Amino acid sequence: MLNILIFLISYLLGSISSGLFIGKLFYKVDIREHGSHNTGTTNAWRVLGPKAGIATFLVDFLKGALAYSLAVWLNTDWNPFIFGLAAILGHTYPIFTGFKGGKAVATSAGVAFAYQPLFLFFNFPIVFGLVLYLTSTVSVASMAAVVSAFIIALLLKDWILVIMTGFLLVFIFYRHKDNIQRIKEGKESIIPWGLNYQR
Ligand code: G3P
Repeated sequence: MLNILIFLISYLLGSISSGLFIGKLFYKVDIREHGSHNTGTTNAWRVLGPKAGIATFLVDFLKGALAYSLAVWLNTDWNPFIFGLAAILGHTYPIFTGFKGGKAVATSAGVAFAYQPLFLFFNFPIVFGLVLYLTSTVSVASMAAVVSAFIIALLLKDWILVIMTGFLLVFIFYRHKDNIQRIKEGKESIIPWGLNYQR
């Protein structure tokens, strides 16, 4: 019973679409009507600016970290990743806002941080940052980070982590299917930074 309750709490926590609420509350803008129409960090930054982007990232990151940590603190029978996954599913399919949410990246990063900060550190600032610098494309950097997370899980032979990152690999690529299409067509938006940005 406790497991199901925490699973539901984690899903509801994940369902708080911070980018959408920050946009509506502080900027009177619905970010779903602009940019990539996504409610995550990248689109919040793109549409509302850096402050909103950073705030969205922090809240979405915390949702994942909290869901995982809550399970650890309460010593649940189920693996804490299951609750992290509930938050990630809430973030991507939020019950409060028509099941249209983000692309799972920031909340997954929060889960990874709660699991092992070093694991996140390698994949997030390092791989994500390097690929972002090389391509100037957030979606490519996001997908590269989840690929590296999966490879590291395999190298560590941590099979629970392999299952979790393997699922996220498929899921995050699926959530980026429109980005992948735009990349193929040469239409994906780039950020004004990095090697691919033409000044
Ligand atoms: O984390 C989402 C990012 O990888 C892409 O976002 O808004 O460019 O589709 P967006």
